Amino acid sequence: MVLSETIPLRTGYEMPKIGLGTWQIPRSITALRVMEALELGYRHIDCAPGFRNMREAAQGVKDFFDAHPDVDRSKLFITNKIWNTCHSTQKCLEQIEMMLEEFETTYMDCIFIHWPFGWAEDEPGETGMWPRGDDGKMRYSDVDFMETYRALEQAREQGKVRSLGISNFNMQQAERVWREATHKPSIIQLEMNPYFTQLPYRDFCRQRDIVVMAHMPIGNPGSSVFRKHGDPNLLFDATLQSIARIHGKSVVQVVLRWIIDHGFTAVIKSQDIKRIKQNINVFKFKLTPEEMARIDGLNENFRILNPLIGNFDHPLFPWPYKAPLKFK
Ligand SMILES: NC(=O)c1ccc[n+]([C@@H]2O[C@H](COP(=O)([O-])OP(=O)(O)OC[C@H]3O[C@@H](n4cnc5c(N)ncnc54)[C@H](OP(=O)(O)O)[C@@H]3O)[C@@H](O)[C@H]2O)c1
Repeated sequence: MVLSETIPLRTGYEMPKIGLGTWQIPRSITALRVMEALELGYRHIDCAPGFRNMREAAQGVKDFFDAHPDVDRSKLFITNKIWNTCHSTQKCLEQIEMMLEEFETTYMDCIFIHWPFGWAEDEPGETGMWPRGDDGKMRYSDVDFMETYRALEQAREQGKVRSLGISNFNMQQAERVWREATHKPSIIQLEMNPYFTQLPYRDFCRQRDIVVMAHMPIGNPGSSVFRKHGDPNLLFDATLQSIARIHGKSVVQVVLRWIIDHGFTAVIKSQDIKRIKQNINVFKFKLTPEEMARIDGLNENFRILNPLIGNFDHPLFPWPYKAPLKFK
């Protein structure tokens, strides 16, 4: 069993450097894969109501604890996210209660605000998590993300979450949270991989002792949700392949090592047990400074996750857009 190395957070807690991402693991196998990942040594599971399988991920965690009563809750690091339809204080606090109930725990290790923009909060049930108007656009809320962050701070003061985070915020938005927060963010989750190295954002985090958690660390190959036909695929990159050959590792392991050697962390998704096992086995080799520089040089500022459709004119949409998109 390979246990992930950990990294200290500004709150004093330790976070595993590699975690299992759960987005796009089918509901039917999520509990099993989470349980198996924990059996293999993963100690960080990244969840979200917006991934539509949080309940199943929670089940996997509970199954693991049932099978291993000797493992203390404090050994696991569970991250979760406030969804866009829960940005008001009341909805945010309710969603935190729901998370604690699902996981049968008294605290989350970190809760992120999933996106800076909020959506209408008036539709019940799971379809209400994606509230669309007749024109096909999302219906927005005007809740400011600082209201959501204050609710997270309140939950932290009540011991319901240990560390706070933001996800998919641009640097200006992150700077505002940093400036106005009482409990500063400990972790920022953002898209980062060798084709999108996020250098200025990384510096921003480093200067403030905020840990970077890379999501989509290998660029989400194989998914067409945000990727377009012909988009570059890291798995076939010649530089990464040549470095992988030198170390007798896979391209994915090299990318994860590149993230760790920079002092960052990553959550990587796989629903394949062999790959889940492979992806945490990255602690027994190191890249040379020259290899690190070669990988840094692959940057193309290539962003995959860009949910413009239905969001492009939200005042809190984090990234620039070129032209309004068509709906319906
Ligand atoms: N905050 C946010 O908005 C946000 C957005 C995106 C992602 N995330 C988090 O970050 C996690 C990771 O991002 P992601 O899932 O989008 O993309 P990713 O981890 O970069 O890539 C996942 C894809 O890579 C494949 N893969 C995994 N390990 C592999 C290996 N060793 N060899 C070959 N292929 C491999 C997986 O296929 P198989 O499953 O078939 O192995 C899957 O198709 C998510 O699951 C989620 O927890 C957060």
